[in-house]
Amino acid sequence: MEKYNHYINGNWVSPSAGEWFDTDNPYTGETWAQIAKGNAKDVDVAVAAAKAAFEGEWGAMKPTARGKLLVKLAELVERDAARLGEIEVMDNGKLIAEMGGQTKYMAEWYRYYGGLADKVEGSVIPTDKEGIFNFTRHEPLGVVGMITPWNSPLLLLAWKLSVALAAGNTAVVKPSEFTSASTLEFMSLIEEAGFPPGVVNVVTGFGLDVGAPIVEHPDVAKIAFTGSDLSGQKIYESAAKQIKPVTLELGGKSPNIVFDDADIEAAVMGAISGIFAATGQTCIAGSRLLLQKSIHNQFVDRLVEVAQSATIGDPMSLDTHVGPVTTPPQYQKILDYIDVAKQDGATCILGGKPYDGPGAKGSQFVEPTIFTGVDNTMRIAQEEVFGPVLGIIPFDTEEDAIRIGNDVNFGLAAGVWTQDIGRAIRMSEKLRVGTVWVNTYRAVSYTSPFGGYKRSGLGRESGMEAIKDFMQVKSVWIAQQTSVANPFIMR
Ligand code: NAI
Ligand code: MG
Repeated sequence: MEKYNHYINGNWVSPSAGEWFDTDNPYTGETWAQIAKGNAKDVDVAVAAAKAAFEGEWGAMKPTARGKLLVKLAELVERDAARLGEIEVMDNGKLIAEMGGQTKYMAEWYRYYGGLADKVEGSVIPTDKEGIFNFTRHEPLGVVGMITPWNSPLLLLAWKLSVALAAGNTAVVKPSEFTSASTLEFMSLIEEAGFPPGVVNVVTGFGLDVGAPIVEHPDVAKIAFTGSDLSGQKIYESAAKQIKPVTLELGGKSPNIVFDDADIEAAVMGAISGIFAATGQTCIAGSRLLLQKSIHNQFVDRLVEVAQSATIGDPMSLDTHVGPVTTPPQYQKILDYIDVAKQDGATCILGGKPYDGPGAKGSQFVEPTIFTGVDNTMRIAQEEVFGPVLGIIPFDTEEDAIRIGNDVNFGLAAGVWTQDIGRAIRMSEKLRVGTVWVNTYRAVSYTSPFGGYKRSGLGRESGMEAIKDFMQVKSVWIAQQTSVANPFIMR
């Protein structure tokens, strides 16, 4: 069995407490590796290494040189994409059909930010002051703590690490306790690319043992987190004690809104991709399907037909559409929400129970589940399930769709299906979410900012602007000649 240690200062380091914990394959239910169980002591060592790298070799490197290392890393990710993808699937149960491509695509983040590393420019600012020259510098923050979830471990790390390193920071990473292996395997590519020791460190373990000490560490300058809104809130509260900036990506309850003038077949596929892809375990899941009443019944019939045709089973098979749920607590949470929806009076028209048919193994499969008659005030419409459970909410008018769409605490994404360009523009303006997709769903890119409104988070990842979130700006004033103005009043 594989046994993984922490990765600190370019070395594989045993956990200080001498303890490891198991990581399982969600499909087979078997333990396949052991992961170092870290604590605050291990975090101290990793932060010290990251700080030394920041103040030493890495800090002295020019942005162009940093960028070249990121581009080299992108090439290595492409070379090893298949291997990394297989580790992801073994540890988190998402489909190889998706993870293979996703792991390869992740290289683009490293390449894009590698290119951007030496293009962050300050300004020369015209001021009203006589004889003083003023300019700005964008400087890295220092050590960035990165805390990632289990649903797309390497991709969500790439969103943080690529931009943070391009900006000149160093990193201490804590992957999810359910899916740490791929992040550790990835460290061999960091090393091969030629990053100096200490630039990227990984301490594995549980949220309170490792994540919290990273957030609380005085030498960690910023936290970048993806996960649940409650953990995000705790991290934000803790970071506030040190006025520490955070980037938070916290999931959602995204509306997928279909008008009666939409291309219905395309919208059905969009609804399917919104909720059953990745077994519904994505932050951008379109978990509320808003259907205009005039097409409701026709749409639901076709949706059920397509959902029923999904092949459930082995995530390593390219023919599988829906795999297992990643973690035992997540599996229980999904089943609990199905019960809640039933108790609240929603009508279960598909699934609604564990799946044990052909292809099922282990004990973490849930049938693709659809509820009709959902009212937007029900818990199934307000709380993130993070599973293959769709709630269908009927609506009358465009105004109703906007009101219902916005009437949640989250604001990550929304889908709009219509052939009317004016309506598409109005909807994109009025929906209070970080991403709006019109006649498509689940599109993301390294070039485009991603993040949430409201409880879905704070700050943006990807795109040009995100790099400023990992830097701070300094204003420098230089007098062209010395003078003896009255020192007791502001210059
Ligand atoms: P979580 O938010 O508890 O965990 C995410 C990461 O944060 C893990 O690495 C965990 O160890 C760490 N963590 C937890 N508490 C922490 C704390 N107080 N301080 C520092 N680090 C901490 O998510 P979990 O328990 O894995 O899943 C629970 C729910 O979260 C899911 O059912 C789903 O609704 C949501 N979720 C959302 C994701 C997204 O992409 N936005 C991803 C994963 C889960
Ligand atoms: Mg696992």
